[in-house]
Amino acid sequence: MTIDITLKQTVDNSYPIHIGPLPKLEFATKVAIVTNPTVAGLHLAKVMSQLTAKECYIITVPDGEEHKKLATAEYILDRLFEHKFDRKSLLIALGGGVIGDMTGFVASMYQRGIGFVQVPTTLLSQVDASVGGKTGVNNRFGKNLVGAFYQPKAVYIDTDFLKTLPSREFGAGIAEMIKMGMMFDKGFFESLEATDLRRDNAALATAIRRCVELKAEVVSQDEKEKGVRAVLNYGHTFGHVIEQETGYSRYLHGEAVAMGMVMANQLALNLGLIDEAMAKRMVDFLRRYNLPVDYAIRDVDAFYTMFFLDKKSMDSKITFILPDGIGGYAMRSDVPAETVKSVLTLFAKDTH
Ligand SMILES: NC(=O)c1ccc[n+]([C@@H]2O[C@H](COP(=O)([O-])OP(=O)(O)OC[C@H]3O[C@@H](n4cnc5c(N)ncnc54)[C@H](O)[C@@H]3O)[C@@H](O)[C@H]2O)c1
Ligand SMILES: [Zn+2]
Repeated sequence: MTIDITLKQTVDNSYPIHIGPLPKLEFATKVAIVTNPTVAGLHLAKVMSQLTAKECYIITVPDGEEHKKLATAEYILDRLFEHKFDRKSLLIALGGGVIGDMTGFVASMYQRGIGFVQVPTTLLSQVDASVGGKTGVNNRFGKNLVGAFYQPKAVYIDTDFLKTLPSREFGAGIAEMIKMGMMFDKGFFESLEATDLRRDNAALATAIRRCVELKAEVVSQDEKEKGVRAVLNYGHTFGHVIEQETGYSRYLHGEAVAMGMVMANQLALNLGLIDEAMAKRMVDFLRRYNLPVDYAIRDVDAFYTMFFLDKKSMDSKITFILPDGIGGYAMRSDVPAETVKSVLTLFAKDTH
């Protein structure tokens, strides 16, 4: 299965996303596979067996979000210089979003840009991180603050890789899929709800394909996030504060997004965009994948203030991305502070 991404701009950055068993990858140039020890141990042999290249190098970096930083990017760059890569050489990102974001960023920088191919191996990277061309690393000022929009040459999504994925990581990917359904496609949301993607591999591949189509559509309309791409942040405004408060260690990103969606839904309920039954339906759905739904806010005012951390002042408007029924969205930047805080208070009263 191939989905073509079309970008409206003078330079043609369109690229194919293949969904299905990893095909033969044949390159007439030098290639480096960038991966980490976890993924290499599980899946490198399979990729190597499909790969033909002029020369092939393996560049292994340590596993973990804390290694998604400039120092690691520079380590990869150094290896490329040592191996005398030229402008026609190619990188293959084999791993989750961390490897994908960092490899893409290195590809954008090496001699002002060489090609890269993504082989995403987590559910989150298959449905989200590998589509849209956002690349980058973290620094001490925050996440993904250093980076570039840089599109891969191709993406190869093979659900077989997911068989070794820990179940929490799987759930984190599911949260982003539920997000896509809730914002953009009622039929898709309901089909997700009716299946157990942990057990049904064919349904999983179909659902991944739908997510990729939806994200591709959004990104094609708005590559640089000036409009509709912001809708992908549903659950993230609240989720980012949860991640910050818990030092990015207690929850996986997708788990924070799950709780963030529950909070956003509560706000949507308060504003009359969805009803109580809908809010509950979402909670039940998330719970089925063991996703957390009940973050306890300790200090409502402090939580509210954290919405403004990346804003210049408290006068800045926060745009809340809210569901408008299933498969519809509303972007609201006029929600009074008291309304938001009254919703947050509901979570503060949680006794968990
Ligand atoms: N570029 C984008 O648009 C975009 C979108 C969403 C997230 N991201 C980024 O993606 C990153 C998160 O991605 P992630 O959730 O894939 O995390 P990750 O890359 O850290 O992978 C999670 C863990 O799973 C392991 N792993 C990967 N594949 C595996 C497999 N098949 N079997 C067993 N273990 C496997 C990894 O080694 C890692 O320990 C964040 O840095 C985030 O900023 C980027
Ligand atoms: Zn996300």
